[in-house]
Amino acid sequence: MAADRSVFDLNDLTHWSEVGTGVSPVARLAVIGDPVAHSKSPQMHNPGLAAAERNASYIRVHVPPGKVSEALGLFGSNGFWGVNVTIPHKFEALAAVDFVDPLAAKLGAVNTVAFRANGLHGYNTDGPGFLKAVGESFGREVKDLSVLILGAGGGAGRAVAVQCALEGCPHLYLANRTQAKVDELAEELERLGAQTAVNVVTWSDDALLGVLPKVDLIVNGSPVGMKEGDPALLPVAGLRGDQLFFDMAYRADGGVTSLGQSAALVSARYTDGAALLLHQGALSYEHWFGEAAPIEAMRAGLSAAIGRPV
Ligand SMILES: NC(=O)c1ccc[n+]([C@@H]2O[C@H](COP(=O)([O-])OP(=O)(O)OC[C@H]3O[C@@H](n4cnc5c(N)ncnc54)[C@H](OP(=O)(O)O)[C@@H]3O)[C@@H](O)[C@H]2O)c1
Repeated sequence: MAADRSVFDLNDLTHWSEVGTGVSPVARLAVIGDPVAHSKSPQMHNPGLAAAERNASYIRVHVPPGKVSEALGLFGSNGFWGVNVTIPHKFEALAAVDFVDPLAAKLGAVNTVAFRANGLHGYNTDGPGFLKAVGESFGREVKDLSVLILGAGGGAGRAVAVQCALEGCPHLYLANRTQAKVDELAEELERLGAQTAVNVVTWSDDALLGVLPKVDLIVNGSPVGMKEGDPALLPVAGLRGDQLFFDMAYRADGGVTSLGQSAALVSARYTDGAALLLHQGALSYEHWFGEAAPIEAMRAGLSAAIGRPV
């Protein structure tokens, strides 16, 4: 039965008039990604939808690369209200929508799509969600912090980098496995006229040891650290207890990411991607419905799904 399925796919969307009847309440929202089975967004959004008395479900749909536009067309024709977009589709989604919100255009990626009468509207809630998550987790504002982003070339890392620059953080250090992507990003930040001093850093222990003394907030925008046994992302010798550690990723088993393990070595404050998931999700809800999200019901659902408080 479709109702028992935890992940749907493109083939299901093409036969949604039959497949969708097995989902109750009716599916109106979804997260798309590749992979997507790990996503906790349904466990977070469904309690929120129930608390707000919206008769609708939020589901997971696996969409392979190159198929985002086709998938969005099928969601629209099947009466969906909106979708979230996760790894690795945020750039493809930016190109696929009819209207790009000005902030999403600056951040260069779309993670939220709303289906409206006049077409597909694309938003980015990763950047603003990051600001809220940093505020809630650390009681600090990004504008006051010098920030190092590891994995700044991906959809999420890039959005956070631009958001930090828009906030006017004093220094931004960008590292990425494929360095050409952050070279390009640094040029783009210059074109945006950001007041922030932007530096590209090679992702090596030697180069990181050179910049870590100047860094207040360390962000991981790569998926490294989500699995047990993933390597450390940076050399422990450069870390301090007064630095703040923010992992955009989180472990589905509720465990501590590699970045969190590094933070623990120097007794520093750390938060993982669950805080970001909550706040970007609440902002997506606001785009879909034009009203404040039932954030405490969403928080309770997410906390239950990962087995610890968010
Ligand atoms: N908590 C949340 O709400 C939330 C929101 C957004 C994103 N995220 C998380 O953030 C991560 C990135 O998502 P995304 O959408 O930005 O994905 P993406 O666009 O595919 O980007 C992936 C980034 O990670 C880097 N990367 C991948 N594998 C790597 C490896 N083995 N070693 C070093 N770097 C590696 C990539 O480097 P290259 O450029 O060299 O390929 C790229 O910078 C994911 O873990 C995602 O779950 C969480």
